[in-house]
Amino acid sequence: MALRLGDTVPDFTQDSQLGPIHLYDFAADSWVVLFSHPADYTPVCTTELGEVARLRPEWEKRNVKTIALSVDSAESHKGWIGDINETQHTTVDYPILADADKKVSDLYDMIHPNALNNLTVRSVFIIDPNKKLRLQITYPASTARNFDEILRVIDSLQLTEYHSVATPVNWKDGDDVVVVPSISTEDARVKFPKGVTEIRPYLRTTPQPNR
Ligand code: BEZ
Repeated sequence: MALRLGDTVPDFTQDSQLGPIHLYDFAADSWVVLFSHPADYTPVCTTELGEVARLRPEWEKRNVKTIALSVDSAESHKGWIGDINETQHTTVDYPILADADKKVSDLYDMIHPNALNNLTVRSVFIIDPNKKLRLQITYPASTARNFDEILRVIDSLQLTEYHSVATPVNWKDGDDVVVVPSISTEDARVKFPKGVTEIRPYLRTTPQPNR
């Protein structure tokens, strides 16, 4: 059955170019971005995996570990990483799962045969430290993902998790946020000393608490 937001994600052990990866052990108490791509030695994927490597300081700032996946072998990944590093001017240091037996692809429903036969599409899963699924997005093979958007969603999820606020339309880091409906305006004024603006009783904004 397809995974749904809030589900505990299935654990797995799978080979990678860095050796076997056991998801739950690898994740430990970090957030995880697990993302699939169609194939090694393809142009769009080369740019994506390079960008994820370049963003390493951003992942670390947010306590996020990244894991890529395709149905190619670990040997193929090793050779391709040389190309990614050279052409994208970076160092890929995160695991790329070698899911040749499609164990993880099937578990996470990453193969959509009517779009791309036998290869994984561009799935993204954000998993929290409790191993709960917090976001999933699926992109077609021909469109690279915007990893700045993935970081933006992680910032939003972490603001909700650690500060009880949600983020309004087109929110960017540093913009005002909204108070979650479960907190009364009276309690919000105590919890958010930077101030609460009540536009409607159900629509309250406050400056981003962690800035
Ligand atoms: C690519 O990564 O460039 C790609 C892979 C599969 C289909 C289309 C593009």
